[in-house]
Amino acid sequence: MSTASYQIEGAVREDGRGPSIWDTFTHQPGRIKNGDTGDVACDHYHRWPEDVALMADLGIDAYRFSIAWPRVQPTGRGTPNTAGLGFYDRLVDALLEHGIKPLPTLLHWDLPQALQDAGGWMNRDTAYHFADYSAVVTARLGDRVKSWITLNEPIVHLAYGYAFGMHAPGEALMFDAMPVAHHQLLAHGLATAVLRGSGAEEVLIANNCTPVRAASEQPEDAAAAEIYDAFHNRLFLDPILLGTYPDLSAMGLPADPEFVEPGDLEIISTRIDGLGVNYYNPTRIAAADPAATGLPFDFREFEGVPRTAFGWPVIPEGLTELLVGLKERYGDALPPITITENGCSTADEPAAADEDGTVGAVHDAARIEYLESHINALYRAIEAGVDVRGYLTWSLLDNFEWAEGYSQRFGLVRVDFETLRRIPKDSYHWYRAALAAQRKG
Ligand code: FCB
Repeated sequence: MSTASYQIEGAVREDGRGPSIWDTFTHQPGRIKNGDTGDVACDHYHRWPEDVALMADLGIDAYRFSIAWPRVQPTGRGTPNTAGLGFYDRLVDALLEHGIKPLPTLLHWDLPQALQDAGGWMNRDTAYHFADYSAVVTARLGDRVKSWITLNEPIVHLAYGYAFGMHAPGEALMFDAMPVAHHQLLAHGLATAVLRGSGAEEVLIANNCTPVRAASEQPEDAAAAEIYDAFHNRLFLDPILLGTYPDLSAMGLPADPEFVEPGDLEIISTRIDGLGVNYYNPTRIAAADPAATGLPFDFREFEGVPRTAFGWPVIPEGLTELLVGLKERYGDALPPITITENGCSTADEPAAADEDGTVGAVHDAARIEYLESHINALYRAIEAGVDVRGYLTWSLLDNFEWAEGYSQRFGLVRVDFETLRRIPKDSYHWYRAALAAQRKG
């Protein structure tokens, strides 16, 4: 099961937490659907014992959560905030007591605002601050936490946060944002060394990966699909796994951009123990209509496929295609894979309350179908020789879905955002039974 700090914790001003870029962004008018913010979210900061109990009852053996950097270092540097660290310390202990392996992500987009004020990921210094922060976190948790994820989805943070402006920090720099990719990669490499030096047994990075399909057999569409593949997938995986950047000239970059300093690629390509893959759907690309967006590729919808409540196409075989494709592309350089996110939003409502007043069931058949078909697609990839070590569903709870606010529900557990009550959906019961059956063997 996977979650992220800003999406579930709430308690944004408690116990010395500093502001993050998401606090700033969500409070700017017009940024988020319905003006929603993560101020309260699922109130997980207070209700975590109940949430851990839900996971224990579900029977999962690993939980991926993220640590809010501004809880640990309110301004992103300097003296650690003991109270903020204490929260994760208690969470880790509770998980271990229930036999659930903690798999923390050090940063799932909620950068301390003070670092943003100094340029955020456009500033190379942020990478060094991230390495210092990772040392602070492992000093407190590293005796019990042995597996770590450095960053979540650097491609989405680059694209939505800095290039196109739909996410915090809301910059729309287009491809002038490319230093953000490099500095996140550098941060990952520096932190990997720190984590390993303090006893980590496994270091991963989680990225959003998508198989890219050309909209037609025309050579222009195939070429545009390659450009998009280089931007979305290879921009991050090539430097980490091969120590080189792909050809980014279509994005206006020279072969040796000045923000890449000597020695950086050695740091970035420090060996990782696993690759976290977040998979939702493939992407369909056509040649650019230069007048349209100023991009070297155009997005096209998939036709004749089911869609999630979000409108995302449901194409489970894309997961097999993606994983087999990664294996073909990177061969022995590809480390074992963990699916660190996979799931869908559904428009589910609880059925009417039962006569005794207990809340009604939530019938999210579409989620069950989505999960089952994707898990089957994962098995196809394993049968084809891809080394997959784990599968983590997005997400435990309905939560704050970034620019969509609370309008997209991704949880196996429904959250009533008025009362904060948790209501396990049909998919929760299905998942629980599937895990129990698997344990019986
Ligand atoms: C991913 C994010 C995650 C969640 C899902 C639906 O891109 O990593 O936080 O919002 O999408």
